[in-house]
Amino acid sequence: MSSKKPGSDHHADAAHELPPDQVLFGRSAVMALLRKRAEKICVANIPVLLCGPAGSGKEMVARWVHAHSAFWAGQFVKVNCAAIPGSLLESELFGYEKGAFTGANSSKPGRVEIAHKGTLFLDEIAELDLTLQSKLLHFLQDGRFSRIGDEVERSVETRLICSSNRNLEQEIEAQSFRSDLFYRVSVVQLKLPSLSERKEDIPVLAEYLRTAFEKEFAIKSEPFGEEMLEYFTSLNWPGNVRELSNEVARHVLIGPHEAATQRQPRQRPATDNGTAGRGAVSLKHVAKDAIREMERSVILGVLRDNQWNRRKAAQVLKISYRALIYKIRDAGLRRSGESRGPLS
Ligand SMILES: Nc1ncnc2c1ncn2[C@@H]1O[C@H](COP(=O)(O)OP(=O)(O)OP(=O)(O)O)[C@@H](O)[C@H]1O
Ligand SMILES: [Mg+2]
Repeated sequence: MSSKKPGSDHHADAAHELPPDQVLFGRSAVMALLRKRAEKICVANIPVLLCGPAGSGKEMVARWVHAHSAFWAGQFVKVNCAAIPGSLLESELFGYEKGAFTGANSSKPGRVEIAHKGTLFLDEIAELDLTLQSKLLHFLQDGRFSRIGDEVERSVETRLICSSNRNLEQEIEAQSFRSDLFYRVSVVQLKLPSLSERKEDIPVLAEYLRTAFEKEFAIKSEPFGEEMLEYFTSLNWPGNVRELSNEVARHVLIGPHEAATQRQPRQRPATDNGTAGRGAVSLKHVAKDAIREMERSVILGVLRDNQWNRRKAAQVLKISYRALIYKIRDAGLRRSGESRGPLS
């Protein structure tokens, strides 16, 4: 969870590396506005609340703010309030002294201590129970706290960033979130848009993620053609950038054709499942899919007729050997009984 370099931590995967600004914010107006606001607030140590749907990039922006803050050299300490059971969360946050409870065989600093001169990122803050909310509020008032089982009061200076994909105002109304804590953590609110509200950013994100996964998996992949990027742009991506990232990972790992067969039906454009009328009908995509499918079965037939002799098949098909190899790979064709070849 910690970092010495701005914006990165010990996870070396694409999910944790901070992309260049032109990728992170893309070219959409809504992200340009968010970037302007983020730039203004990152220098001052004021609490930031990041809201927005799941997978929209809240953590990414939190890391960006940290990397551009005065505390960039400190650690980015993430506490996932939804993943840590309530009973453990207090000791995770504030730490404990040896003997504070059964099993506390040695003292342990809490995450707030580790985040001293760094950033404390409270992910999914709506998941904190009310008792812990009041303890957190107490800590936020003056940066003072005690480890569980300790009399000593400690003090830290840390940048606080919180995130929530629930509407905290509604949680306040439902009395599951303290309004005083809300005002303290939300001095500035940044709202991440859903990916469908920033579709013009999809091509640059997809290409960035493709090269990031190539590096991560040490594998080469086909660049996305213009049509594929157009197709991606036509999808709705209910899981936002995370869903796009998964799609790209599949493309890199198993190739474009197999990735397409594994695509979730809900992710496909309305035309794909016969629900025309609910969205724009892209005749171009329908035609392209049909041609690709036809091509695939013709190639497979010729390959079989020629006992998978690719040179002969290329001659029959009147295409170059290289083009055939590309098409075989693109369509994910394999001789039955043949084990999966190299992925690139
Ligand atoms: N602008 C971006 N550029 C590149 N990758 C991004 C961008 N935004 C998000 N991602 C990727 O999408 C995934 C989800 O991003 P992130 O974890 O920041 O979203 P989140 O809003 O915190 O999601 P959740 O609400 O589910 O916690 C991550 O794998 C991240 O690497
Ligand atoms: Mg998150």
